[in-house]
Amino acid sequence: MIILGIETSCDETSIAIVDGRKVLANVIASQTLHQEYGGVVPEYASREHMRMIEPISRRVIDSTIKDLSKIDGIAVTYGPGLMGALLVGLSFGKGLAVALGKPFLAVNHVEAHIMANFIVHSDLDYPFLCLLVSGGHTMLVYVKSFGRYKILGTSVDDAAGEAFDKAARILGLGYPGGPIVDRLAKGGRKDFHVFPRARVKGNELNFSFSGLKTSLLYLVKRKGESWVRENLADLCASYQEAVVDMLLRNTFRAVEMVECDKLVLAGGVAANSRLREVFRRNAEDIGVKLYFPVLEYCTDNAAMVAFTGYEMLRKGITSPLDIPAVPALKFDSTE
Ligand code: KG4
Ligand code: ZN
Repeated sequence: MIILGIETSCDETSIAIVDGRKVLANVIASQTLHQEYGGVVPEYASREHMRMIEPISRRVIDSTIKDLSKIDGIAVTYGPGLMGALLVGLSFGKGLAVALGKPFLAVNHVEAHIMANFIVHSDLDYPFLCLLVSGGHTMLVYVKSFGRYKILGTSVDDAAGEAFDKAARILGLGYPGGPIVDRLAKGGRKDFHVFPRARVKGNELNFSFSGLKTSLLYLVKRKGESWVRENLADLCASYQEAVVDMLLRNTFRAVEMVECDKLVLAGGVAANSRLREVFRRNAEDIGVKLYFPVLEYCTDNAAMVAFTGYEMLRKGITSPLDIPAVPALKFDSTE
C-alpha cells in the first residue's frame, strides 16, 4: 500500500512516500528563516510551506513512484500545530485526494511521533510504554495497540522541548535550542550547578519544567553576561542533566508501575544524546528493551505521518474531506 504523507504543522515542510513500513522517500525542508527571531513566526511559516510544498512533492514523486495514480491514500497532519501552517498541508492534501479519488487520512501529529518507531524497528510490537517528548508535548503513554492509548503522565506547564528552547533563548543561543544545548553540553560539567528537579503533587508521573527555566533565568540575571559566556558549556550540561533526570525518574517509575518490558522514546527531544545515553543504561540495568527512532524520524517528518495513515487505512479508518485543521488537537486516553 503506497501512502503519500504531508507534514506542515510547524516549521518543517515534509513530504514522504511509504510502502507500508518501507520509506521510499522522506524529504524535510527545515525553515531557517525563523532563527533570527528566536522562535517560529507563524505567518512566515505558512508562507514558506506555500512556497515549498509543491516542488518538494514533485521531487518526491519523481524520485519514487513517478505516477500519482499508484498512491493508495493521502495522509496529512491536521493538528496540533499552527493554524496557517496546518492549513497549507491540509488543503494541498485534500486537493490531491479529490483529484486522484483516493482516501483522505487526517493524522494526529502526536500519534505520528509515537508511530515513527515502527518505521525503524521491525521487531517492535504492542503493548509498550512511550515517553513522548517534543516541542509541545511531554507525555508518558501506555500504548496497548494502534489507537488504544492511556496517558499516564503529562507536563503541567512547559514541554521538555520548550524547556530546552527557552533555556537557549535565556543563554542567547538561538533557535531551536535543543540541538544547540545538546552540542554545547558535550564539553561541559554536569555537576557545575544543581538545577531544581520539580516534583508534581497529585500524579507523581506528571512533569513540570517551568521552575527549571525560571531558576536559570534568575541565575543568569544574578551572575551577569560575561559569567554566562565563560561557563556556557557547563551551564548547558547542568541544565540538560536536570531535564533528563526528571524525564528519567518519572519514566522508570512508570515502567515499574505498568510492568512493561518495552520502552519507546518519541519526539524531537528523543534526539538528545544525553537522554539516549542515560535511558539506554537504565533500561539495560533492569532488562527493559529500549527503542528510539533514528534522528530523521525523531523531529518532524512526513514519513511518520504517512505510516500512521497506512495503519489507519489498514483498519478501514478514513477521514471526511471537510475535516478542519485543529491547532489545539488533543491526544487523549482512549479508554
Ligand atoms: O518533535 P519536534 O520536531 O516538533 C514538535 O512536534 O514539537 O520537536 C521539536 C523540539 C524542539 O523543542 C527542539 O529544541 C527539540 O525538539 N530538540 C531537541 C534536540 N533536537 C530537537 N532537544 C534536545 N536535544 C536535541 N538534540
Ligand atoms: Zn513534532
